[in-house]
Amino acid sequence: MKAVAVFPQQREVRVIDAPEPRLQSPTQVKVRTREVGVCGTDRDIVQFLYGTSPPGSEYLIVGHECLGEVVEVGGAVQGLQKGDLVVPRVRRPCPHATCPACRHGHPDFCVTGDYTERGIKEAHGFCAELFVEDVAYVHRVPAELREVAVLTEPLTIAEKALREVRRIQERLPWKPETGRAVVLGAGPVGQLGVMALLRRGYVTTVYSRSPKPNEKAAAAEAVGAPYLSSKELSVEELVRRAGAPDVLYEAAGAAKAAFETLKVLAPNGVVVLTGVPSHEEALSLEGAALLKQLVLKNQVVLGTVNAADSDFDMALDDLGRFRARWPGGLERLITARHPPEDYCDAVTGRKGGGGIKHVITFT
Ligand code: BGC
Repeated sequence: MKAVAVFPQQREVRVIDAPEPRLQSPTQVKVRTREVGVCGTDRDIVQFLYGTSPPGSEYLIVGHECLGEVVEVGGAVQGLQKGDLVVPRVRRPCPHATCPACRHGHPDFCVTGDYTERGIKEAHGFCAELFVEDVAYVHRVPAELREVAVLTEPLTIAEKALREVRRIQERLPWKPETGRAVVLGAGPVGQLGVMALLRRGYVTTVYSRSPKPNEKAAAAEAVGAPYLSSKELSVEELVRRAGAPDVLYEAAGAAKAAFETLKVLAPNGVVVLTGVPSHEEALSLEGAALLKQLVLKNQVVLGTVNAADSDFDMALDDLGRFRARWPGGLERLITARHPPEDYCDAVTGRKGGGGIKHVITFT
């Protein structure tokens, strides 16, 4: 079967003919891949900056944002049948008895670092015609979400983050107003974060580099989030226009912009870090002033990665809600669809000129 693989030793990325996977346990399902989204993590993987092949394999099949269709179910599988659409989760637990997170079904909080991630770390991904997965790691997708369900996995990042924010804000001895949010970065994770924040009632503004007009600004504004360019407006000006954010949602992996904007976080506010910086950025920090601010203003710095079972369920519910509230809003985030042969161009944005979310389609 056709698959897209990186060969880190040979520094190559190519379409290969991989062995077709077979069911190996009665709780597994075989899935025909329909679509695979690509993101910044994939960009790092094809540049050999990130990602690890499974033990004993010279290559890693890429792809972790996936929508597929069940083609075979094991004898013990309940609740799924041939023809159902599904999205798989990414992370699998570490083997250590001492890891409380993995032993409690939360590899997204793994403490040993020995988890695996499909398409990223020591497990083949979904950018192949077929894959096999245990039913415990796949979620059924309502047929009406077919066009947008490839966005489920990136949306789960926001679902987990905002679930954590809600819990953190329960520390306040009164019920806080939902308040204001600023999203840093207008890529897919930023755009889906915008929708998730708006859905929870935050008055949300996007603060991102490129000046308007551009398609990312248009997508954010179409759902009701004003877009301000950090090239044109200082953080002080951002606060004058949008108010001090109670939630600052970092979705660009841009260290300098994150620390700069952190200065204007509201008292009792939370800065949520979701972007993984891919390159080192020289930065000088007024460390003491920053610590003083965090302490005197009761602020929280929250790093968050990956997502849990319940976040996938919530993301699928939210895709339905977003669609009803902003018709066409999700569809416009998918700016290009490519064949597997164009994987590298899709990941680096060479084909489809910039865009927001690029998707690989298997026919
Ligand atoms: C994925 C996460 C993963 C993280 C770190 C992200 O791109 O969406 O599922 O945990 O990379 O590898």
